[in-house]
Amino acid sequence: MPRLSHLISFTFIVAAIYELITIFRCSDSPHCSVSPTFRQEIYTDMMGKTRSGDAVRVGTTIMLMAVVAVSVSGHDYGDALSKSILFFEGQRSGKLPPSQRLTWRKDSGLRDGFEIGVDLVGGYYDAGDNVKFNFPMAWSTTMLAWSVSEFGRRMGPDLPHALDAIRWATDYFLKATSVPGLVFVQVGEPYGDHYCWERPEDMDTPRTPYAVSAQFPGSEVSAEIAAALAAASLVFRRVDHRYSALLLSRAKTVFEFADTYKGSYNDNLGPWVCPFYCDFGGYEDELIWAASWLFKATMAPNYWNYVAANTHNLDYRKSKTINSLPNAVGSFAEFGWDTKNAGINVLASKPIVMKDSHYPDFFVLNADKFVCSVLPESPTKYVNYSPGGLLVKPGGSNLQHATALSFLLIVYARYMNRAGRVVQCGDVKATPARLIQVAKGQVDYILGSNPMNMSYMVGYGGKFPRRIHHRGSSLPSLDQHPQQMGCKDGTPYFESSSPDLNLLTGAVVGGPDIEDRYNDSRVVFVQSEPTTYINAPLVGVLAFFKGRPNL
Ligand SMILES: *[C@@H]1O[C@H](CO)[C@@H](O)[C@H](O)[C@H]1NC(C)=O
Ligand SMILES: *[C@@H]1O[C@H](CO)[C@@H](O)[C@H](O)[C@H]1NC(C)=O
Repeated sequence: MPRLSHLISFTFIVAAIYELITIFRCSDSPHCSVSPTFRQEIYTDMMGKTRSGDAVRVGTTIMLMAVVAVSVSGHDYGDALSKSILFFEGQRSGKLPPSQRLTWRKDSGLRDGFEIGVDLVGGYYDAGDNVKFNFPMAWSTTMLAWSVSEFGRRMGPDLPHALDAIRWATDYFLKATSVPGLVFVQVGEPYGDHYCWERPEDMDTPRTPYAVSAQFPGSEVSAEIAAALAAASLVFRRVDHRYSALLLSRAKTVFEFADTYKGSYNDNLGPWVCPFYCDFGGYEDELIWAASWLFKATMAPNYWNYVAANTHNLDYRKSKTINSLPNAVGSFAEFGWDTKNAGINVLASKPIVMKDSHYPDFFVLNADKFVCSVLPESPTKYVNYSPGGLLVKPGGSNLQHATALSFLLIVYARYMNRAGRVVQCGDVKATPARLIQVAKGQVDYILGSNPMNMSYMVGYGGKFPRRIHHRGSSLPSLDQHPQQMGCKDGTPYFESSSPDLNLLTGAVVGGPDIEDRYNDSRVVFVQSEPTTYINAPLVGVLAFFKGRPNL
């Protein structure tokens, strides 16, 4: 490809980046077709922690439900938790450490960024391909950090592994934000990557680095990286103070950059990020989300003021068409790598629910609306449920919604419980126990309590996906096949109905359709592709259900 040699001739990174974002056009590429790619113990100390009559009734209800739940499902949440974290090792890019447990994966992407003189080695492949997409990687990291900050003390021996999973990303984000005035947002030319079915260890497709700058900003991706760094700084505060301080300081700088130079990377990197991880929901939510995490990490009033002053920018009922793809990004039930609204409302509601009364209450009202948008019996429900009980929203990789919204339900249920609060959805009363029950239903569904009797986590239970849309998992490992495999050498494995050669243990796939049907097929990527952002919130949810499930 002429592109890399072209790049190397540039002395200045900025000039190189300018080239990257302006010269390449899809029409120059022959690869332009996008190949899509709880052991339950009973709540014995619950009463001691409650403060009001309502909460005591709630506690009793949970005890009763807990007894029923054990006899019905009996899932091993601890086993699922360990595996959900192990998955992240299978997604690692860069030089793997001796502690690597998924040993069929080897070093890869060891020269990422070198052609422009920047070390961008490390980080995660987002899903079944070999591109490092920093926007979803950053949200996954924020959610791993939120999982640990909320539920880390329930993780037991898995806590160090969860911290390693966060650090693997934050070490990379420190590199991606090390050049002043630039934020690297992606490594790997996505069309070239998606054209091949290749092991990450063999990649010979262009590892093009993409960046945003003052002139060509990307506030959503920069702000999400700031959120990830700030959330991770909280997690490392007592574990590694120096590292935590470094993360926080960088988070502040990157947030400043994202807020000063406002713009979307959709506009400035165009086809290199869309339709892959296009920011359909606008960048306002990421700026407020990052400020919320910076406030939580610093308690500095300026960040709270930013959140309070800008929250009106969150749009709850809009739909956008980007690259001819219609996308509903509104509703109080939106939370994922693209739209942060429900997460902001739950995160920002904590001090208010906790009765720090000088804060305005709209975050609580909005978080209540989130609950009413999700509960199956709510008159203002905005999501669908399959006959088998799975939460379903439009688009692919549906389990991302089930895991992210379950996480928020549990976190908000804890705040509500401490405040002795219930949410009123029309005539329907939503207790904290009910929120937990809904989340548990989703987790149990994912782990095998569903019409297919199938676990959607690889390696958990007796029946799980065997043909996932994941290059490394489907292809022989370097141990089995040390010779280089070229771009198209993997195609027979992609098209084959043979089971995966390497188990990507803990990977949760996109999941079944709205009729609870699942085709265990590599080709059906909307169902069979695992992603970091499906697993990241699930890590917190599983830790909650593994530990004594008192709120
Ligand atoms: C799932 O298990 C139930 C109860 O054992 C059984 O009735 C049903 O036929 C199974 N469904 C499938 C798709 O295997
Ligand atoms: C799943 O497989 C069935 C039978 O082969 C097929 O009819 C259906 O279209 C497939 N679903 C998807 C989403 O490909």
